[in-house]
Amino acid sequence: MIDIESFVRELPKTDLHMHLEGSIEPELMMELAARNGVPLRWETADALRRAYDFRNLQSFLDLYFEGCKVLFTERDFRDVTRAYLARAREDGVVRAEMFIGPQSFTERGVPIEALMNGVLSALEGARIQHNMSAGLLISVHRHRTEVEAMTVLEQIMPWRDKIVGIGMGGAEIGNPPSGFARFYQTARERGFHTCVHAGEEGPAAYVREAVEILKVDRIDHGNASLADPDLVRDLAEREIPLTVCPLSNLRLHVVADMAQHPLRLMMEAGLKVTVNSDDPPYFGGYVTENLLSCYNALDLSVSDIVRLVRNGIEAAFVRPEERAQLIARLEQYTALFGAHLPAVR
Ligand code: ADE
Ligand code: ZN
Repeated sequence: MIDIESFVRELPKTDLHMHLEGSIEPELMMELAARNGVPLRWETADALRRAYDFRNLQSFLDLYFEGCKVLFTERDFRDVTRAYLARAREDGVVRAEMFIGPQSFTERGVPIEALMNGVLSALEGARIQHNMSAGLLISVHRHRTEVEAMTVLEQIMPWRDKIVGIGMGGAEIGNPPSGFARFYQTARERGFHTCVHAGEEGPAAYVREAVEILKVDRIDHGNASLADPDLVRDLAEREIPLTVCPLSNLRLHVVADMAQHPLRLMMEAGLKVTVNSDDPPYFGGYVTENLLSCYNALDLSVSDIVRLVRNGIEAAFVRPEERAQLIARLEQYTALFGAHLPAVR
């Protein structure tokens, strides 16, 4: 016999929507602040954790950008990336795709080399140490200008072959995707995969712009899509994946409670939804906790959970051979353990 919690934790799964800046556990935040002589408003890690009580996306972003100020050196970026990858591996993640937004750092004079070399060396280490596959997504801020985003695209070109994709996050309302058409076109022309946060706090119209104007490969969040049936049909027909982050949505009051989360309706509408952690310490859970809270609140079945994990593998920015290996690993796991669950629903 195996209980559902162990079954979900051990499932070979993906985390495709996770921000490295949002992955710093409070203890590591305190350590980095002390190492770099950065004064924090909190005396202890517990006091910092108690501050993770948000009204909306902006109130979270304020704290998130404050947290970015503890990172300076290549070693800092390596430590943060390593810590997330080790934690994700314990959580059963076999493919992680991680965002980092250079603008928070370069605006303070942190060299792009420190950031890129630190993150990429940890990524390479995870491949060797944890037999884990990891990809880097460079993210720009939508509350800054498109010209600034283009500068980021130029700065990262020396590492072109080590970056899998380009995304965009930050304050959504009032900053529609259409303002970044040239940036996304250039990113696509340079061979990057693309994604964008859309329909988290913003409307379905932003998701439509993301698909039609930015022509992204994936939508991050996309909760608002259900308000537009034509859009849902397009997303389903074109199999455009949505990287949904249920605990993030709960903690940022995108949904009033988990029972009202649209994940189940999204699945029923034929959307290729995946479950991801976004900023795990800030929102109280890694992928396993996200899956389990949906399983419990939305009365999902075990096969729904396996479907969500399979969608993650299908949505990953990996080569066909790696995708086939990940699918085989998932199928082997479900064949071994799926029949040993006590009450399968
Ligand atoms: N940056 C980190 N997490 C984010 C989120 N949930 N939405 C927009 N930008 C973000
Ligand atoms: Zn996000």
